[in-house]
Amino acid sequence: MDYQDFLLFQPYSLLLLLLVFLSSTYFLLKRHLVTKSLPKNLPPGSLGWPLIGETFEFLSGNPEDFIQQRLEKYATQVFKTNILGERTIFFSGPAASKLIANNELKLVKLWLPHSQKRLFAIDYTKSHQKSLHLMRPPPGATGTGFTRLYGFLKPEAKFVEKFDSMMRWELREHWEGHEGEVVRAYGLVKSFVLTLSCNNLLGMEPERSKKLTGKLDVIVNGLQSIHVNFPGTVYHRAKKAVAELGREIQLLITERTAEDPVPATEDFLSLLIAGNVDQSGKVILRSTVANIATGVMAASYGSVVTTITHMIKFVGLRPDVYDKIYSEQSEILTSKGGDALNWDHINRMKYTWAVACETMRIVTPFIGTFREVLTDFNFAGYAIPKGWKIFWAVNTSNKNPEYFPEPEKFDPSRFMENEQLPYTFQPFGGGPRMCAGKEWARLAILIFMHNLVTKFKWEIINPNEKVLNGMVMPAPVEGLPIRLHTLSSFVSPN
Ligand code: HEM
Repeated sequence: MDYQDFLLFQPYSLLLLLLVFLSSTYFLLKRHLVTKSLPKNLPPGSLGWPLIGETFEFLSGNPEDFIQQRLEKYATQVFKTNILGERTIFFSGPAASKLIANNELKLVKLWLPHSQKRLFAIDYTKSHQKSLHLMRPPPGATGTGFTRLYGFLKPEAKFVEKFDSMMRWELREHWEGHEGEVVRAYGLVKSFVLTLSCNNLLGMEPERSKKLTGKLDVIVNGLQSIHVNFPGTVYHRAKKAVAELGREIQLLITERTAEDPVPATEDFLSLLIAGNVDQSGKVILRSTVANIATGVMAASYGSVVTTITHMIKFVGLRPDVYDKIYSEQSEILTSKGGDALNWDHINRMKYTWAVACETMRIVTPFIGTFREVLTDFNFAGYAIPKGWKIFWAVNTSNKNPEYFPEPEKFDPSRFMENEQLPYTFQPFGGGPRMCAGKEWARLAILIFMHNLVTKFKWEIINPNEKVLNGMVMPAPVEGLPIRLHTLSSFVSPN
């Protein structure tokens, strides 16, 4: 008997074979029964393997490819699958976007994957009232802590000056003094966004915020991971980072509430502390306040970092685009003289914003968002059953030549000249759950670019640098190396 035969006749091997046989039969039978019990006329698609469905395919590669391949294969705007333990229907295109944006709490409601709910230990999607209470003013509320919180993420004029001084601090600390050197833009952008979020959301001084470097990256990665909490997994690392950030925030709360009188700081955390009662008048626990602040910190970070980083790349590769941004921004710089940037200057940055939009069209920072189906309905001729989840792929029209001719071309003028067709460009989502930080993001991006282009030019070291795509925060694998030139000494490369 040779070694193979010997192994085959070992009792362990027989037991293993039996187990494999039984589990395959069980899974195939279960799959058959599940398929038989499904409602009729569902969108096309595969529910994949029992339990895991197509989660692995969705998370392990490029989620955009996962979506695009299925849309092409089934030639529809919707397809069904099973991801993250949920039967899910993917919605794409303007008609789907319109339906979702206009039917929150009628046909659908916001839903978060279990891993995200557990990561932040809060489920602010549970009911209409609770779901909206901290980010959105409850119906009829005026001038309460809630409305102030919501308003906070829509920065007012005074934030322009604050964001601007933060950016100038970052330039002095990390960008200046590197004439002709290669620096990694991705890391520098992360530093700016972290400083901005820590300062304006938590009231933390720039120096202190440095000790949180890297934590938000780990947390953002955890948002797109499977909920497996073992040491070494992405989720486990994210959970640890959430706990560390939470502890830091609780420390801030202790420091702030220990002072008498409590200092009148103008950050999100202070508003949370001051308005820490929910709609029934119940006091929100300190740990919950910390969890909410951690969640908003994470939301404020990845998408802004992604947009600014890719904007630096696209602008660096296109001198004509740089020149137009420069001309817009240097005009503003001259007109403001020694004064601080103000709201009027921001509203004049139209071309710069068009460049940001074109960047988000090509590299969408946040490819989609989930909803839960509240009641059976039909869409595009298919049944959408109650209880199923929807993944609203917000970027599926972005590269459709019907809405964006020559979609692979980087052409900011499309956001200057033409009004976009409704529901074709929605990087911030839409409807009542549209991104609460849209205006904050606009300010951060424009103020960053204003300061950058009026002081520097840059060369992209590797125009073909790969981008690692995920559900959120597509990342340049080499950290976007650029060669910096301060404007007075800049010599155009041949
Ligand atoms: C370029 C930057 C950003 C992009 C592309 C972006 C995109 C999005 C998207 C697609 C959603 C989901 C909307 C939906 O489900 O309909 C969202 C939600 C949200 N975003 Fe942003 N976001 C950005 C920046 C920010 C910033 C800077 C903040 C905070 C300062 C923020 C806070 C939030 C919050 C709190 C929500 C949840 C809103 C709710 O459920 O009511 N975002 N964002």
